[in-house]
Amino acid sequence: MTIALYKFGYKKFIVPYNNRYEAAAIEGIEIYPVENIQKAIDALNGKIPPFKGVLEPEGRFDDLYDFEDVKGQESARRGIEIAAAGRHNILLYGAPGSGKTMLAKRIPSILPLLEMEKAIEATMIHSASGVLPDGEGLIRIPPFRSPHHTASEAAIVGGGVNPGAGEVSLAHNGVLFLDEFVEFQNNVIQSLRQPLEDREITVARAAGSVTFPADFMLVAASNPCQCGYLFDNDIECSCPAAKIGRYYHKIAGPVVDRIDIEVLVNRVPYKDLLDYGKNETSENIKARVVRAVEIQKERFKDSSVSFNSQMGNREIRRFCRINSDDEVFFENAVKKLHISARAFFKILKVSRTIADLDNSDGLKREHLLEAISYKNLYRNYKI
Ligand SMILES: Nc1ncnc2c1ncn2[C@@H]1O[C@H](COP(=O)(O)OP(=O)(O)OP(=O)(O)O)[C@@H](O)[C@H]1O
Ligand SMILES: [Mg+2]
Ligand SMILES: [Zn+2]
Repeated sequence: MTIALYKFGYKKFIVPYNNRYEAAAIEGIEIYPVENIQKAIDALNGKIPPFKGVLEPEGRFDDLYDFEDVKGQESARRGIEIAAAGRHNILLYGAPGSGKTMLAKRIPSILPLLEMEKAIEATMIHSASGVLPDGEGLIRIPPFRSPHHTASEAAIVGGGVNPGAGEVSLAHNGVLFLDEFVEFQNNVIQSLRQPLEDREITVARAAGSVTFPADFMLVAASNPCQCGYLFDNDIECSCPAAKIGRYYHKIAGPVVDRIDIEVLVNRVPYKDLLDYGKNETSENIKARVVRAVEIQKERFKDSSVSFNSQMGNREIRRFCRINSDDEVFFENAVKKLHISARAFFKILKVSRTIADLDNSDGLKREHLLEAISYKNLYRNYKI
């Protein structure tokens, strides 16, 4: 409300006391936080000074969730780093207890802090939805939302009697984590298509429709089959083929069509879990992600695209050129692996991000190869 009125030229605001920090984050206005009507009258009579909130400029992050805690998992960590760098949607699949949930929760710790405008957008949504903790200023750490798989469509995309923002909007400029992805209701999964496509969501209701922003990175996690051990190194899958089909079809459906990176999370052997050696910290990984994001910012400075994952055909043609040497190689790989046209473009986009992390202008063969490895999870499994 404050932002909306500020745009109409209002400069002074009386706000509820608990909202003082978020309101103070808006530059160029004076705010007067009040606990009761008497204080509001005092504010109107000029008896209380404007509030000067002190904001945490860096944002706080719960360091309970640091990649330092994750033992091994080199390939999953790598896939996640690429996803974070190019803001690609990602699917983590693997056996029970392999660490999918643990990994996903740590993704915000390697994303750059939100810039002012994006921080204000996220804060606005959380504030209006009443989920901003008391005394909180601007949201600088990208939000992380993990709705339960029993959540209704209204809870996920928004709506209801008093139309509020759904999880897709609370995850705006951050991460939407759908754990146990296959367990979500079909209509809920379907309802993600519009926000994934448009980066916003329109919610219809009696009095008209409302559009909320919904630009998020989707992180989905799932077992590859009912027993969970389909791709496991040690334990054999005990599922009948038809049951695997159910998983496959749900995972390979229309939403996963919008997922650029699929990584297998293998269980880490016990002896490695007990290894007290150092794992790379989130801070280190984040430094690389931030550099790759800077490269993208420069690349896309004159367009509506911000990240490699958002490139359309025009940008792909322009920024994902392949050496003529590698073209034939790539064509053969695509044919051999039955890669669809859609997957083909995803591979190019992911290659672009891998090249950015490698600080390379051109796409090299190794970038393409790695990107191919993140696609088509059931490749070796005949359904
Ligand atoms: N690589 C690892 N390093 C450290 N701890 C791990 C690792 N993998 C698993 N763990 C431990 O095992 C627990 C289970 O992991 P997690 O819940 O993330 O598995 P999951 O893949 O989500 O399983 P499920 O499919 O049952 O949901 C973690 O909370 C953690 O304590
Ligand atoms: Mg889990
Ligand atoms: Zn199985």
